[in-house]
Amino acid sequence: MRPPPHDITLITGASVGIGADLARVFARHGHELALVARDGVRMEALADEIAARGAPRPLIIRADLSAPGAADALVADMNRLGRRVKNLVNNAGFGLIGRVAEIDRADQIRMIDLNVRALTDLTLAFLPAIRASRGGLMNVASTAAFYAGPGMAVYYATKAFVLSFSQALAYELKEDGVRVTALCPGPTKTEFFERAGAGESPFGPIPMATSMSVAQAGYAGFMRGKMVVVPGLFNKLLTLTSGLQPRALSMHTIARMQMGRARSGASKKDAP
Ligand SMILES: NC(=O)c1ccc[n+]([C@@H]2O[C@H](COP(=O)([O-])OP(=O)(O)OC[C@H]3O[C@@H](n4cnc5c(N)ncnc54)[C@H](OP(=O)(O)O)[C@@H]3O)[C@@H](O)[C@H]2O)c1
Repeated sequence: MRPPPHDITLITGASVGIGADLARVFARHGHELALVARDGVRMEALADEIAARGAPRPLIIRADLSAPGAADALVADMNRLGRRVKNLVNNAGFGLIGRVAEIDRADQIRMIDLNVRALTDLTLAFLPAIRASRGGLMNVASTAAFYAGPGMAVYYATKAFVLSFSQALAYELKEDGVRVTALCPGPTKTEFFERAGAGESPFGPIPMATSMSVAQAGYAGFMRGKMVVVPGLFNKLLTLTSGLQPRALSMHTIARMQMGRARSGASKKDAP
């Protein structure tokens, strides 16, 4: 007879940035982890670091989640390894800066594949295990979810999907005792803007958070069962007032910052 499966927290995009710090925070609070991303070397180093602090060494799974069948392959991996996903953290994602008409079409569709399709497919694939273990789901959205974002139009739209989907799911799963949190960071110091082709954050005066502060706020909100977590006072104000600002005005401001950035020599060659 096979032993009963072991409950774990699976974190996507855990090789660097917010996902890596979420892994550190979850591990510090006693969660056993599986880390998923494409860069195995970075995840091995993170697993070593976590193990060196006395926590169980996370499982490492190298996967391109934008590829078809990625969720099915992960479910098969978990079954083979005797792990049950109690908590799923859908963090992997990327953005691309520039006008829709000027960014490569396949790259924009790949963004939807990762930020929307993979996130949804992983959620549906692991939902039976999450419900059975009365676990939880954390989806990393963004303050971008509250606005329309010319200059990063597809990215903002993907994050609006993540927020809407997560809130509705939180409502549906409440009676099953499953917590669902949409973590909505504002600009955060990671590789995100470099990969997006912006070089650095286009939001000059808006303060950048550290990925650790975002991860800590996310974890605390998740454990409290909060449906939406927006780290930072400035970002909270931005999201709370989004419905009060005329769309034309907010789009004009966002477009000026983002399109200016894309024009000022930003390159998209580093995009994943
Ligand atoms: N930084 C910000 O200002 C900010 C603000 C709001 C929301 N967010 C969101 O926060 C999340 C994490 O972003 P971050 O800022 O930490 O960016 P990051 O430093 O670029 O990290 C992105 C992570 O996603 C992984 N990833 C990218 N493409 C992947 C793929 N095809 N398959 C599997 N994993 C993939 C990357 O790992 P590999 O390259 O090893 O695959 C990496 O671990 C994203 O969903 C992003 O939209 C970021």
